[in-house]
Amino acid sequence: MKNKKNILFYLLLMSVLSWMNAQEFHPGEIWKDTQGNPINAHGGGILFQNNTYYWYGEHKDKTNDARIGVTCYSSRDLYNWKYEGVALAVSNDPGSEIVSGCIIERPKVIYNKKNKEYIMWFHLELKDQGYKAAKTAVAVSKTPAGPFVYVKSYNPDAGHWPLGFKEEWKHKEITEGDLKGWTPEWEKEVQEGLYIRRDFKNGQMARDMTLFVDDNGKAYHIHSSEENMTLHISELTDDYKGFTGKYALIAPGGQNEAPALFKKDGMYYLITSGCTSWDPNAARSFRAKSIWGPWESLGNPAIGEDAETTFHSQSTFVLPVHGKKDAFIFMADRWRPKNPIDGRYIWLPLEFQNGRPVIRWKDHWSLKDFK
Ligand code: GAL
Repeated sequence: MKNKKNILFYLLLMSVLSWMNAQEFHPGEIWKDTQGNPINAHGGGILFQNNTYYWYGEHKDKTNDARIGVTCYSSRDLYNWKYEGVALAVSNDPGSEIVSGCIIERPKVIYNKKNKEYIMWFHLELKDQGYKAAKTAVAVSKTPAGPFVYVKSYNPDAGHWPLGFKEEWKHKEITEGDLKGWTPEWEKEVQEGLYIRRDFKNGQMARDMTLFVDDNGKAYHIHSSEENMTLHISELTDDYKGFTGKYALIAPGGQNEAPALFKKDGMYYLITSGCTSWDPNAARSFRAKSIWGPWESLGNPAIGEDAETTFHSQSTFVLPVHGKKDAFIFMADRWRPKNPIDGRYIWLPLEFQNGRPVIRWKDHWSLKDFK
């Protein structure tokens, strides 16, 4: 009798536990952490390390500027996330570049094996300057959840020309002031290095960004540059804390933001968005045999109803699921600029069709859905 009771109790406990544990993704719905609080990690990226996924993202509240910093959550199954705290805290020191009230966006973390360090990069805008500074910044920690220590900010690749930049373009004297914006003449000049020349000495602009570590350990920083007209892909130094000065352009003049880069079967893929601020637009996709290009445009990876707004979201990361071949998760943000804390996470399976990445809407799904 007692045994029967124990078994019943055990069964009840198991069903309560499995009910409490999420086992599915519900894109766009409020996603709570293991303490029952909505996850606050926007524009995020994920690091897989020590058999654990670490999700880093922007802490947001009623406004978009950074009052707390970068948060970190951990998970073993990708459904249930434990809050690990603030990985990089904003500073109270008015002299700090990351003083409370600055803008910190799209943080990404990679692990540097050589120095056994976790390296975080993020888009940084200085306090009270809007999006003018267009910087990227780096912070370092010995442990995945931090605390990360702020190192410095960059406008990348100062004093370097991108790969394939023509000699004659280096010496052009035409400047922004000589041209009317959004005319064919201006577009041609953008393609021929108008902004690269302008920023050559002090370093290039870096707004929306992501990181990618290749199989050989080389790491790359991919960012919207040249007034958001062109994406730059820049090689990081061996310690991942700086730029080597080697960089290439992706889709010059193509106005791409929100880059997410991944690799499958030796081929590089890139998902981006267009530039419409917090409003969603149609995603784009590209592929290349070499990270340095050429990048072939593959069109909008989203398919079906609401594909033209990427299901009301903007890409932030593509996550390879550990231990599952060809299983990738498309991670995106459904921004709520009037109440940024209420922004939602759109995670969808990314599949391949005739060599192209495709993303379809699902109200709910699980990792078991990967074929
Ligand atoms: C978006 C960008 C966001 C944020 C926003 C500000 O296009 O992807 O990360 O910078 O613009 O307007």
